[in-house]
Amino acid sequence: MAPLVAMSDEPIPFTPASGDATALRRAFGRFGTGVTVVTTQTPRGPLGMTANSFASVSLDPALVLWSPAISSKRHDSFVAAASFCIHVLAADQEALAQHFATQGHDFSPFDWTKGPGGAPTFAGALAQFHCDTFAVHPAGDHSLILGHVRHIAMRDDGAAGLMFDQGRYGQFTPRD
Ligand SMILES: Cc1cc2nc3c(=O)[nH]c(=O)nc-3n(C[C@H](O)[C@H](O)[C@H](O)COP(=O)(O)O)c2cc1C
Repeated sequence: MAPLVAMSDEPIPFTPASGDATALRRAFGRFGTGVTVVTTQTPRGPLGMTANSFASVSLDPALVLWSPAISSKRHDSFVAAASFCIHVLAADQEALAQHFATQGHDFSPFDWTKGPGGAPTFAGALAQFHCDTFAVHPAGDHSLILGHVRHIAMRDDGAAGLMFDQGRYGQFTPRD
């Protein structure tokens, strides 16, 4: 059966409309990313969130950022946290990503240890960035959290990263 909407490489122009983020969300989703799980320690125990808003920012000082949505139940805890850990997930860690996209406080399915800054830490990540909170900026319906990277643990075995593109998990395939 023919598709209702013809597939075309012609870009569809539109203006982001306040109140309907569907098309904007799809357009943002055209940017394929890696996947992280951000963790912190709270008075209620360990907290985690799957996030692909991670970006490296500065080399000196070493700064990274990510952005939790204000609508998230976990937002206020992350904004209040003095330190946190960003795990860049390996391709075989999709279960971690799915788990911490659903909820934040249940760490029971996974082994974890307390990291150098106190945040819960999972083995197997391609990189762990242990950060002190450097700044928090308002950013529309999200907050921008900048982290000062104090300690890094990095795998160097060439393992593939978990990727997220247009709503789907996958893995990068090099050309050669
Ligand atoms: C691949 C992926 C990336 C995500 N990235 C972000 C993000 O950068 N910021 C964010 O606020 N939520 C992000 N989410 C959504 C959260 O993981 C989580 O689903 C959301 O916080 C659920 O709301 P709650 O905290 O109220 O339970 C992402 C989800 C997925 C699956």
